[in-house]
Amino acid sequence: MAELLVSAPAKINLHLEVLGLRPDGFHELAMVMQTLDLADQLSIRPTADGAISLTCDRDDLPTDGSNLVVKAGELLRARVGLPELGASIHLRKRIPIGAGLAGGSSNGAAALVGLNALWGCGFSSAQLHAMAAELGSDMPFCLEGGTQLCFGRGERLEPAGLGAAPALGVLLIKHPDSSVSTPWAYGRCQELRGDFYLQSEEEFEQRRQALRSGPLLAALRGEAPLPPLRNDLQPVVEPELASVREGLALLRQAEGALAVAMSGSGPSLFALFADPAGAEAAHQQLAADLAAAGFEAWCCRCIGSGVSLG
Ligand code: C5P
Repeated sequence: MAELLVSAPAKINLHLEVLGLRPDGFHELAMVMQTLDLADQLSIRPTADGAISLTCDRDDLPTDGSNLVVKAGELLRARVGLPELGASIHLRKRIPIGAGLAGGSSNGAAALVGLNALWGCGFSSAQLHAMAAELGSDMPFCLEGGTQLCFGRGERLEPAGLGAAPALGVLLIKHPDSSVSTPWAYGRCQELRGDFYLQSEEEFEQRRQALRSGPLLAALRGEAPLPPLRNDLQPVVEPELASVREGLALLRQAEGALAVAMSGSGPSLFALFADPAGAEAAHQQLAADLAAAGFEAWCCRCIGSGVSLG
């Protein structure tokens, strides 16, 4: 059978608020996530040898059973109950690794969608969503994509209801030598802020409601100027990583930047502009300084969907 191509786009957090700690040890979050047009690509060929094998064009990424692509394939195969199903998967990596851009989660979500189609499993999107949530907190968002409010561990999605993706331009930067472990960032957040976490479902719901009706969503609907962005993991990571401090300072110099923030648990950073041309102009303005400080940079657009076939 012919190979299937699946696009696995990155996300940024336009809002990441840590509300409290859940009985399962995860953090209760209130987030707004946005899919970008920076994407990895999976090419998948089905086999009937019971082996799910993964290769990647970057040799610093584990391709064994610890990779979410392989985990997604194994979970799907177990659920469909046909151990002879196999696949040979190649991953073209464009999203920086360990960056807070959900690259690994998006790859796993892309494997679920691609293998569901190739193996003819016939799982519904609700069933794929449930499997994605088992594999990782960001994975359901990666399946759906666009602009979504994400609650719970991150897996409870509410579309922002914008109609179309925001027309914003995004200048994204990351230092290739820096990466952040997500469990470390949340653990450190708990050490620093745990005594002040909200405790009750009523308080969590108040914060969710404040996000739904607040200035960020109004700005994304085009009804108000963009407010400063909030990422509660930024003050946790910033003191620890010089590259984050340096990158934020550089982005804050960009002409026309409407807001600057870290994405997820970092260390990738981004600035938002009124349109993609604004991001391109800022990229040119900052190119020499970014290169001198060793940053990689991408000009991106917001898109309205997550993983997609073809
Ligand atoms: O769900 P995922 O595997 O992406 O989470 C990675 C780690 O990040 C978790 O093991 C946990 O330490 C932390 N985390 C958290 N609360 C969340 C999401 C992630 O504490 N809502």
